[in-house]
Order: sequence, then C-alpha cells, then structure tokens
Amino acid sequence: MADEGQETPDSQRLLDDLGRRLLKRRVDALKSLPTFPESILRINELLTRDDPADSMERIAQVIETDPVVCARLLRLVNSAFYGLSRTVVTVYDALLLLGLDIVKGLILSTSVIDILGGRRNGLAGLWEHSFGAAVAAGALGRALGVPRVEELSAAALMHDLGKVVLASQLAPEYPGVVAKALADRIPIREAERALLGVTHDEIGQWLVSRWRFPPVLAEPIALHHAPADARKHADATAVVHVADQLIRAYGFGFGGDAVMSTIDPTAWRLLSLTPEKIRVAVRHMHEDLLGAVAQVNLLLQT
Ligand SMILES: [Fe+2]
Ligand SMILES: [Fe+2]
Repeated sequence: MADEGQETPDSQRLLDDLGRRLLKRRVDALKSLPTFPESILRINELLTRDDPADSMERIAQVIETDPVVCARLLRLVNSAFYGLSRTVVTVYDALLLLGLDIVKGLILSTSVIDILGGRRNGLAGLWEHSFGAAVAAGALGRALGVPRVEELSAAALMHDLGKVVLASQLAPEYPGVVAKALADRIPIREAERALLGVTHDEIGQWLVSRWRFPPVLAEPIALHHAPADARKHADATAVVHVADQLIRAYGFGFGGDAVMSTIDPTAWRLLSLTPEKIRVAVRHMHEDLLGAVAQVNLLLQT
C-alpha cells in the first residue's frame, strides 16, 4: 500500500485528468475569450466556394452585412499603402480593384489580429512568431505550388492560438511553463504537459471546434505538431508544420521553444521536400518578411 500522502501512478493519473478537466472548464468558462465573428466565417465560406454563380455583387453584399469588416476593408484599401489616386467607397469597387484573393486575405488577417490581441497577447515574441509563420507558410506554399496560399497563411497565423489563450488566461502559471522549457531545454509543449496537463495544440483543437472553423483552417491549427494525423487537409497541415520550424530556425519572434525539433518525416514526404526547395522557400520568406513588416504595422493601426 502506498504511504499516506504519496501518490500512486493511478491517483496521479486521476489528478492529472482532474486538473486537465478543471483547466478546460476554466478556459471554457472564460467570458473574456473572444468569439470568432460568425460573419467572418460566413464571408470566408463564400469566398472559398469558387462558385461562378457567386457574382462580385453578391460577394460584396455579404461582406457589407458586417459593418466592422466593411469599414476596415475600405480603410485598408484607401490607405496610403495602396497609393490610390481616388477614394474607394464601396466593397464592390474594392473587389474589382484588388481581386478576390487579396480581399479575402485582408478580411482573414484583420479578424485574426483581433483574436490574437495584436502584440499584447501575454507571451513576448509570440505575435512575431505567429506572423512570421504566416509569411513562411505563404513562401513555402508558393515555392511548392500549393494552391490557396492565403488560407495557408491564415492557418499559420493562428497555429499557436492555444498559446495565446494559455498565456493570457493562465497568466500566473504560463511564465513558469516558458521558464521550465528554457531551463530544461525541452519543447514548450512538453513543459505545458508537465505543468498544466494540457498542451497548446490541444487547446487549439478544442477552440477551432468550438468556433466551428472551416476544416482548412482547423486541421492545420489542431495538428501542427502531428501532421501525420491530418486527413482532409494533410498538405496544408504539413505546410504549417514546416513553416513553424522554418521561422523558428530563422530566429524571427519567440514561441516559447529554446530547442529546435525536426521536421516530421510524413510532412517531408507529403510535400516532396528537398533541401533545394527549402532553400528557395527560405529565400522567399526572407524577402517577404522584409516587405510584410511594413504591412502588418499598417494592419495593426486599422
Ligand atoms: Fe505550436
Ligand atoms: Fe509555433
């Protein structure tokens, strides 16, 4: 029989399980947690449908149902960044001018920036890491000829959503998790598992189902550390997984990891990666990062 006060593996497991469920309940109960705007998901669904019957007028009408999205889009389009000689006053004009892909990218990015809380999200460097991963995913997607690059970038931007939630909602505990990862030189998810009983990707998985994200975003977010488990969007998940490693190796931002992990062999095989393709992607990533930093400063101001 175990000594009083000393936990057997069984009781430890029960405690772990209990702690996990309590934590999940705490996160679930958080009133301050932003809900993903329903209208953005609806707009995104429409924009990704590729139905020729959806005219530009119809798409503009749907976007106009959300005044916040609509106002932001017009502000962005009219900003000095795009250097237009005339003022764009309707969503329809913005669509004609910029095209569907750019408009879609802008809508997704601005809503994600809201959710991530810009640069004030509780873990210094996480914003830059997330943003860098989005740029890396776009660069890798283009280097590999993967379609719908803007969706890859959006998924990569949100891949560590679970960390945002953990760092902000468990503010007293999370710095200890980061400190453990650094001191023990272990991946941040191992430190999360050890101290919180849950990892950021598990929280991410739960969030994307709660927010009913479309699978093309949900799968890469939930499985960015386990790309071999992806089913419907295995390629997108593999791209986000590799982009996460690339931006860490590049040294832009800080996601809480002091050690590098290797690229999952399934992702390597799925994307038919070669050292040359990685080199090309890194070159694009470097160039895109230089340009994108100016763009994101603008997005954060709008
Ligand atoms: Fe992660
Ligand atoms: Fe990450």
